[in-house]
Amino acid sequence: MADRPTDDNILDLVHVERDDLAIPEPVAEPKTADAPPKEAQIWAYLGVVGGVGVTSLAVQTAWTLSERKAKVLLVDLNFERGDCAAYLDMPASLTIAELNKAEGRMDGELAATFIKPYLKTENKIDQKSKPGPTLSVFSAKGELGGNDQISTGALLSFLDCVSGGFDFIVLDIPPMWRSWTQAAIGAADKFALITEARVPALHLARKQATDITGLLKLPQPPEIILNKYERRSVRGGLNLADAHKVLAVKTSNQICTQICVDDETLRAAINTGTPAGRLKPNSRYTKSVHQHVQNWLGLTKTAQQKGKSGQYKPKPAQGKNRRTARR
Ligand SMILES: Nc1ncnc2c1ncn2[C@@H]1O[C@H](COP(=O)(O)OP(=O)(O)O)[C@@H](O)[C@H]1O
Ligand SMILES: [Mg+2]
Repeated sequence: MADRPTDDNILDLVHVERDDLAIPEPVAEPKTADAPPKEAQIWAYLGVVGGVGVTSLAVQTAWTLSERKAKVLLVDLNFERGDCAAYLDMPASLTIAELNKAEGRMDGELAATFIKPYLKTENKIDQKSKPGPTLSVFSAKGELGGNDQISTGALLSFLDCVSGGFDFIVLDIPPMWRSWTQAAIGAADKFALITEARVPALHLARKQATDITGLLKLPQPPEIILNKYERRSVRGGLNLADAHKVLAVKTSNQICTQICVDDETLRAAINTGTPAGRLKPNSRYTKSVHQHVQNWLGLTKTAQQKGKSGQYKPKPAQGKNRRTARR
């Protein structure tokens, strides 16, 4: 297969294949004089435990959206062991102290200093594949206990200040619940809990879905994404029916989708500090995440057919008042 490396030398993987996914260009929305100010769509991913693949999914989702020429901000909300910058082979964009110092005086100019564009100057792979600086990253230098040191006010006002400058903000939310976790989820236009198809993780996903539904008073439970999903269950693995049983998913009121397992692509992506879709545009993982992005954009038949009842959407994308979701 074209996207399988022939040997174990990681340097052999550093080439880009042509993307044949034919991602359509975004359609510009007609502007009207009294249109509300533009706000980014916020897509949030929360892992039920560490290691389920949230950072990989957030990075690849952000990359996929940026390939559509959308202006995307990838936000790493793990201030202790955040991986977003490392997964993109770039330095952290700020320190916790810098963010905290901005409490009470955050504005657009200051907020912009906490963001770094991806691939602004480097030419790591191939200039032709460079999408331009449409993907930016907010990723703090991790510190021990960093998630407890963060000023919630500074973080939320940062998100407020940058929202107008992007089409999408993709949140990588760590599993530990913090004061700002609820605000981040509450502000999201799309939200998913990420789990693996392992019984303990599925039990946690079920419990967290119930807890979050109650806490945020959601009309329906959040979407659950089964990551690293193997269609053919092998070596004691679970099939989809088993996973749904543990999750107690009732298909009428809860969405449960899958992202395929693809060890080779993810290993290569992480080891080269490159989004999977950039390194291996035709890989199973890239296509799987692409499908997920299409779903959330409402561009697939299934998503369109499901309509409002099938999509998690706590509030409309335009003109929402995020402050009500806070604290
Ligand atoms: N779909 C997948 N298939 C195979 N391996 C995956 C997949 N998604 C993530 N991984 C691997 O799982 C590990 C944890 O991924 P990561 O994105 O850092 O998870 P998290 O952010 O939830 O801790 C990494 O080694 C990554 O390569
Ligand atoms: Mg992570």
